[in-house]
Amino acid sequence: MSTEKKTRFLTGITTTGTPHLGNYVGSIRPAVRASLSETVQSYYFLADYHALIKTGEPARIQRSTLEIAASWLAAGLDPERVTFYRQSDIPEIPELTWLLTCVTGKGMLNRAHAYKAAVDRNQAAGEDADFDVTAGLFMYPVLMGADILMFNAHHVPVGRDQIQHIEMARDMAASFNHRYGNHFVQPQAAIEESVATLPGLDGRKMSKSYDNTIALFASRNQLQKQIASIVTDSRAPGEPKETEGSALFQIYQAFATPEETEQMRRAFADGISWGDAKQKLFERIDLEIAPMRARYQHLIDNPQEVEALLLAGAAKAREVATPFMQTLREAVGLRRLGSETRSQSAKVSKAQAPAFKQYREKDGLFYFKLADGKGQTLLQSRGNAVPQKIAESIAQLQREGISALTSLQDQIEPVSDLDAVRDALETIAATVAAAASAQP
Ligand code: TRP
Repeated sequence: MSTEKKTRFLTGITTTGTPHLGNYVGSIRPAVRASLSETVQSYYFLADYHALIKTGEPARIQRSTLEIAASWLAAGLDPERVTFYRQSDIPEIPELTWLLTCVTGKGMLNRAHAYKAAVDRNQAAGEDADFDVTAGLFMYPVLMGADILMFNAHHVPVGRDQIQHIEMARDMAASFNHRYGNHFVQPQAAIEESVATLPGLDGRKMSKSYDNTIALFASRNQLQKQIASIVTDSRAPGEPKETEGSALFQIYQAFATPEETEQMRRAFADGISWGDAKQKLFERIDLEIAPMRARYQHLIDNPQEVEALLLAGAAKAREVATPFMQTLREAVGLRRLGSETRSQSAKVSKAQAPAFKQYREKDGLFYFKLADGKGQTLLQSRGNAVPQKIAESIAQLQREGISALTSLQDQIEPVSDLDAVRDALETIAATVAAAASAQP
């Protein structure tokens, strides 16, 4: 299969912590598995610019970068198959951040969850709304948009808390495309329904902020100790135990086969002691993790090996990012002087380029339309309360062309000039394909 046809997956990991079992089950393991597919081109990166928003401890960022990179590699990520890089090795990312900043509404950023939460906390505490809020926190969705759009990712595997950021990235792509021609595909959040969130030691979601994590690459002894501290109820050995709501059982399930899980369910009903259940859990996790532990330790002890892999990954990423950034600079008018013909032709093609436009009306509903190069509306959607539905319809039209109209008929107004719509969709598909063929 030619590489341009592959679906591009991209995700970033903020370099502020040490990977724990929740990260492994929720993100590392599924990502490594997905990267083995022939039809997928994966981009995984260490989001160290993002780390600067969260911490002012330089040593912690450096250490976390090493630990996260070593964890992914030890878990089987093959840097030959995927593009594995450190965000700050790609200067095109902050450069694109600025171009996107200039097409992003400030009002949209005001509504970002992370920023709003900070404002709400301040207001509850009677502080100024922006007390202790950095512009970095405020701008964070734009940096994330640049991460995603730099590589024209189709799918972005993230947790639910990040969905809003992907929607914002789509909005940035649409605004940029509308103004400067079609350069970006519309990314979609990929939420793995089957990947459960792992509970932590206290039964709440395993998360560094709850201080309830089990380290992914602790020594065997430490792993055993941490598992021993999983909170259980006071049922004595011999008493039947509930699997429902048991953190221990849920963690077991995340590592075990369906048959093993069934056996454990029976053991619970038969009154296995908590001590024995913890021992079984420890052994099951260790069975999966132990083979990776040696590789992890080797990489931690030899950071220069990790460094070399990351630099090679950055070079691979920049084979895409550097020429694409050049195209984008040209598109917005950051051009060499005296290249009149180029700028003229760019102007003409922009003026004649059909484009999708997404917007919100006073009725509060979301809409899109397809306009030709002169701004004439060729296709008009009906209103929808859910902005994703609008983005999905656009994505479908981009993918399937005119044949998408049948399944979308309830969502669009009747079309008067079918040929014009077909031409416009073909032009858009051709420009997007040209942009995508710059990808490796
Ligand atoms: N913000 C993401 C998180 O906190 C990490 C991240 C940064 C990311 N850039 C990204 C995830 C781009 C997906 C795509 O989890």
